[in-house]
Amino acid sequence: MRKAFVTGFPIKHSRSPLIHGHWLKKYDLPGSYEAIEVAPDSFPAFLNSLKDNDYVGGNVTIPHKEMAFALCQRREPAAEEIGAVNTLWFEGGQLCGGNTDAYGFLANLDASSPGWDKHKTALVLGAGGASRAIIYALKQRGLTDIRIVNRTLTRAEELADRFGSGISAHEWIAVPELLQDVSLIVNTTSLGMEGKESLSIDLSDVRRDALVTDIVYVPLETPLLKAAHMAGLKTGDGLGMLLHQAVPGFEHWFGVRPEVTAELRNVILADMNG
Ligand code: ATR
Repeated sequence: MRKAFVTGFPIKHSRSPLIHGHWLKKYDLPGSYEAIEVAPDSFPAFLNSLKDNDYVGGNVTIPHKEMAFALCQRREPAAEEIGAVNTLWFEGGQLCGGNTDAYGFLANLDASSPGWDKHKTALVLGAGGASRAIIYALKQRGLTDIRIVNRTLTRAEELADRFGSGISAHEWIAVPELLQDVSLIVNTTSLGMEGKESLSIDLSDVRRDALVTDIVYVPLETPLLKAAHMAGLKTGDGLGMLLHQAVPGFEHWFGVRPEVTAELRNVILADMNG
């Protein structure tokens, strides 16, 4: 039986056990996937004990993603570029680290809004760890004009420098002007998350064919997505990205590439509503 895990601190809110548990059952595989809370001080020892405890790999979430990056023995290009690891597995006895956030973001938009990348201009709100994965994803996909807006301009400038040509950094005050000709708007800030301040942006001047996405998924309909719906714009929600980012890990650990279905989405929605 193959054993996998998700670790974070805290970890009780993670929906990953539900996702992987659903797939293990669906594909009738003899495996397990459990949530393990590990304090930052204990994380290196936890990684060292994986083999002895027969784990084939697992997911890593806040606050361990950077430490997992530093401590794994091999890293995939996406993890290298993003500077964080969210998926671990063993290959030839070595602990390998990947980052599936960029994949999950792109796969979700490809599934829910095919052709979304026809135009090459995007506005990204936020310049933290999550934004890094999104900028990397958009560059990978060939977008040529990526505008980062952040409360703290220096963080946006650092990201723009890090990822090079085609990326610009701006202050929040420039948003009304910046969003007029973009075909994609992505919120990577914590604004709009349950219990946090709302995100209020006037979308009336946005292109009619623009796609508006949020990586926040609690609540599912964030203030930004609500505004987009009211403006008649296409949207992509954060839950889709969460489901798709889980696919590569499951395949590494259990050998089956799982499908993201409406049924799985409903399992998570029922849990969120229950
Ligand atoms: P993550 O790794 O999840 O991206 P983070 O690194 O803490 O988390 O980044 C959070 C993002 O939300 C940042 O872009 C942050 O802006 P700053 O860089 O200026 O801190 C943004 N953010 C958080 N609270 C905000 C607020 N009240 N107003 C505007 N932006 C906010």
